[in-house]
Amino acid sequence: MRREVEQIAEWIIASKKVVVFAGAGLSTESGIPDFRSPGGVWDRYDPEDFYFQNFLSSEASREKYWQMATEMYEPMKKAQPNLAHLALAEMERFGKLDCVITQNIDGLHFKAGNSEERVIQLHGTAMHVSCLTCGKRYDRDEIQERVRKGQKAPRCDDCQGPLKPATISFGQAMPERETQEAYHRSSLCDLFIVIGSSLVVQPAASMPLVAKRNGAKLAIINRDPTPYDNMADLLIHGQAGPIMADIMQNVRRGMEVKD
Ligand code: APR
Repeated sequence: MRREVEQIAEWIIASKKVVVFAGAGLSTESGIPDFRSPGGVWDRYDPEDFYFQNFLSSEASREKYWQMATEMYEPMKKAQPNLAHLALAEMERFGKLDCVITQNIDGLHFKAGNSEERVIQLHGTAMHVSCLTCGKRYDRDEIQERVRKGQKAPRCDDCQGPLKPATISFGQAMPERETQEAYHRSSLCDLFIVIGSSLVVQPAASMPLVAKRNGAKLAIINRDPTPYDNMADLLIHGQAGPIMADIMQNVRRGMEVKD
């Protein structure tokens, strides 16, 4: 692994545009379970219950959704950025990070210090709630308080429309601006680093292909194998936190030598 860590660090130093693609595996070391690992979210809940059409279909489905969403929100609310999040914030400070394309809804990139304009939240955010009818936006904690006080499926104050965490559910339209931006940045980068994603959910998982097809080097850092491992120019199977901290230590040293 030493050689791979040094190699990625050299690529980052030499790179003009680094795009990082983040998945739930980047936040497990912050105490937020991922989706497809043993004990993950889809081990405990049936993904069918999270389909957008289900949410729209009945009050009972919305109540079930909010019950599950409330359980998932608790660890997210308390979570702190880990070494991998902090490494990406440092990469931005070094002026090496073009953007983070994240599938994560936990907002930890911002807590770590990445700026709004450098983070593309492809699957939305759990940190606020929106009305599906009029689009009014609410603070998540304010709505969680209503749920705690007995509102099983909260509704909009203005139009009585159904409220939902501002995340993108299966079957829900992807956010247009973010998706276009993610494709665009993936096509322009010279180094694309995947961290903590199983790379099985589309269209997000097509971003590494876009980068590779446009000539970028592809590095994958993931605990378990992914369907794209054979396409990677560099592959590290391991824990994202210590690996990213190690990589940035090498970048820091390399940048000092360069200056
Ligand atoms: N370090 C490195 N890799 C890790 C770590 C870690 N600490 N912890 C978990 N992983 C890896 C797992 O091996 C797994 O391959 O992260 C990957 C997480 O994969 P998923 O659980 O499938 O998460 P993700 O790829 O983000 O899922 C994509 O699916 O359910 C939907 O909307 C949800 O955004 C999510 C999307």
